[in-house]
Amino acid sequence: MADTKKLFIKTYGCQMNVYDSERMAEAMGGAGYETTETPEDADMILLNTCHIREKAAEKVYSELGRFKGMKADKPDLKIGVAGCVAQAEGEEIMRRQPLVDLVVGPQAYHRLPEMEEKTRAGEKALDTDFPEEDKFEKLKGRSKAKRAPAAFLTVQEGCDKFCAFCVVPYTRGAEVSRPAERVISEAQDLVERGVREITLLGQNVNAYHGAGLNGSTWSLADLIWKLNEIDGLERIRFTTSHPNDMQDDLIAAHGECAKLMPYLHLPVQSGSDKILKRMNRSHTAESYIRLIERIRAARPDLLLSGDFIVGFPEETEEDFQATLDLIKEVKYGQAYSFKYSTRPGTPAAERPLVDDAEASERLQRLQALLSQQQKELQDAMVGREVSVLFEKEGRFEDQMVGKSDYLHAVHVAGSGAQIGDIRKVKIVESGTNSLKGVAIA
Ligand code: SAH
Ligand code: SF4
Ligand code: F3S
Repeated sequence: MADTKKLFIKTYGCQMNVYDSERMAEAMGGAGYETTETPEDADMILLNTCHIREKAAEKVYSELGRFKGMKADKPDLKIGVAGCVAQAEGEEIMRRQPLVDLVVGPQAYHRLPEMEEKTRAGEKALDTDFPEEDKFEKLKGRSKAKRAPAAFLTVQEGCDKFCAFCVVPYTRGAEVSRPAERVISEAQDLVERGVREITLLGQNVNAYHGAGLNGSTWSLADLIWKLNEIDGLERIRFTTSHPNDMQDDLIAAHGECAKLMPYLHLPVQSGSDKILKRMNRSHTAESYIRLIERIRAARPDLLLSGDFIVGFPEETEEDFQATLDLIKEVKYGQAYSFKYSTRPGTPAAERPLVDDAEASERLQRLQALLSQQQKELQDAMVGREVSVLFEKEGRFEDQMVGKSDYLHAVHVAGSGAQIGDIRKVKIVESGTNSLKGVAIA
């Protein structure tokens, strides 16, 4: 096509943004755009942004500044901001950075093509509505192109939890679940295009309560059991879960559902009940630990992952010690930890801060403990047999890289496996960030 335009999308933040970026690329495909990996080639640049911490939001403005020269050279270049910064700051973005032509919030992506048209007419376009219609339904019309073997699929959006530190309930809105029928047909389509592992996504994915196939409301476990029936789909994962939404049927599925992988991301944030209460987490350290025990009783080899915030307002050394104690008791195979970042408009934003140097020092101590645990659990894989889904070629000849059931990266040489194959692998060595194995079947 002579007048195909090029779209460059840069994605920040969580996996939900990764999924949304793919959908936006598809929607713009219908408007004559194909994606490019180089911003210099682009007719339109979209930043899909994250507002979770101050640094994440500020990155957007410094990135936008870098496009100034490009726009001077190419006046037809359109620049758009999507995602959570777009939702949180709206028009303010265009005020602060006048080169921005378009601002679109996460619930309005299906309106992108008409917004782009508006910018071509020389106008600015802004849409941060939370419309009634299902954006994903409107974003249909995917190409039948082959896909990488592991894919994301958003099943739930938004959050009703209102943790005192967090912007997500404001940027993504209330909890909404997609009907099971749409999720299933999307999963079938992905499998037809080569996908063998699907990670179900939601800000509170285990709060899923979508319209089921039989007129009733389905839980996440109901949905997983249905997806388990799809031939060719070999692995199911989900993220991110909230401890309060870990219902019995989901715990049981971890023990009984063959395709559900033995890995769970279950953020706790802090091990101090005083801090958990001030965070509005509505669980205690004790209730979280008891929950983990129940999940591990269903699936003893489960690998656990978590999120932690240090330096939350009024966190004392004693509170911090309680977090270290919880980590020692639970043992995490993977973890993400952050220094508290004040987010305007959230309840915690008004509270007195912990000294910054103190918070940084706590973060270092926390990360040292988490890395040590992570390494120990990774090293403990040596000698074990795991299944590996191969996702790409390695750096060396005849070497493939994939993910184990437990989400560890595994390098395997000389297996003759192709991308998309799943093989039984014996782990022989544990490196800095990955394992080495030999294929045994
Ligand atoms: N819905 C998910 C993830 C939310 S954002 C959940 O509830 O677990 C991912 C992580 O970012 C959170 O788990 C939290 O650890 C961190 N985070 C959120 N807001 C933050 C803030 N204001 N400062 C520092 N970290 C934050
Ligand atoms: Fe944010 Fe809490 Fe909701 Fe997670 S559960 S998205 S941390 S408000
Ligand atoms: Fe960031 Fe929005 Fe995800 S704030 S973490 S991109 S939901």
